[in-house]
Amino acid sequence: MKAILLRAPGGLENLKQTNLEDPGSPKQGQIRVRLHASSLNYHDYNVATIPGSATDGRIPLSDGAGVVEEVGEGVAEFKPGDCVVSCFSPAWQLGRPPVRDFSSVPGDGVDGYARDVVVSAANSFTQAPRSYTHAEAATLTTAGLTAWRALVVEGRIQAGDTVLVPGTGGVSIFALQFAKRMGATVIITSSSDEKLKRATALGADHTINYKACPEWGRRVLDLTGGRGADHVIELGGPGTLTQSIEAVRLGGLIALIGVHTGWGGHVPTVQLMAKQARLQGIIVGSRMQQIEMIRGIDATGLKPVIDRHFGLEELADAFRYQAQGSHFGKIGIQI
Ligand SMILES: NC(=O)c1ccc[n+]([C@@H]2O[C@H](COP(=O)([O-])OP(=O)(O)OC[C@H]3O[C@@H](n4cnc5c(N)ncnc54)[C@H](OP(=O)(O)O)[C@@H]3O)[C@@H](O)[C@H]2O)c1
Repeated sequence: MKAILLRAPGGLENLKQTNLEDPGSPKQGQIRVRLHASSLNYHDYNVATIPGSATDGRIPLSDGAGVVEEVGEGVAEFKPGDCVVSCFSPAWQLGRPPVRDFSSVPGDGVDGYARDVVVSAANSFTQAPRSYTHAEAATLTTAGLTAWRALVVEGRIQAGDTVLVPGTGGVSIFALQFAKRMGATVIITSSSDEKLKRATALGADHTINYKACPEWGRRVLDLTGGRGADHVIELGGPGTLTQSIEAVRLGGLIALIGVHTGWGGHVPTVQLMAKQARLQGIIVGSRMQQIEMIRGIDATGLKPVIDRHFGLEELADAFRYQAQGSHFGKIGIQI
């Protein structure tokens, strides 16, 4: 089978295309999937570029979508020909999160989907949305489910709520799309006026250029008549949290998701306490939440925004494109 391996010590120059032995037929409880697509996440970029992030020879990429070729004994949920999409956290099937690290996450602690065929536990995949191409399905594993969990599972979003979405990458555009489908008002920020125009075309109600308006938390209060946003998608981390706390309404939810500005820093605890806001750490979601998200997608017809596709053999170039930050929505990988 065709695969990309990340050789030690990591870095884009150490992504090597190779041929590995075919994994053969599935055993009990397993399925064999012909993979047709993946997509890039900031997490995949970190695994590929931070020295020592992954063990030598790791197959990168957490997202994978394709067709079931064969099912092992005891598998009733899938049959050959089913279109499926991978789960970010196969160890988390339902209920509360059982793991605190990335040791069981495909493309990080275990091999991922930068390859054309995989044999794995049936419960590390779900059915894909009915009307989706493989490329579309492959956007859901990480970015789609993170946005869904923040708004629907943790946020219990309701029609009429206001959602603050920072930036216009994969998680952000899914958050914009889910929020609009749920009847919310969306305020979106970006470093680019051009991207803000595209966000407006997708339904965003208000836009803020966070470079031109560094005090965007105040601006969110102005736009909401002083009330603040019910849901804040927090993707920046330490460099943006102060503004997010300013922007959230009394008793609102800040979904702490991203690390764009770093991995640790100052938290204005008194302001957070005064807002009586909930700061909820999020690492993607469970397999059951993915099944529920896909049911919602089937019901609404929501389609992901894919900025550009690269071939699997162009993976390093795809990551370089991601690093430039000019993309809007997802970057697809065709296998
Ligand atoms: N915890 C989790 O479960 C989880 C899951 C998925 C992603 N994440 C995290 O969420 C973040 C986004 O991931 P992604 O895969 O969607 O990335 P991505 O597609 O590469 O999105 C990058 C976008 O983020 C925006 N951005 C960068 N710095 C920003 C800042 N200081 N303020 C506001 N926006 C900023 C930029 O938007 P503009 O170009 O419009 O300015 C950029 O295009 C990353 O930090 C990632 O690690 C976490």
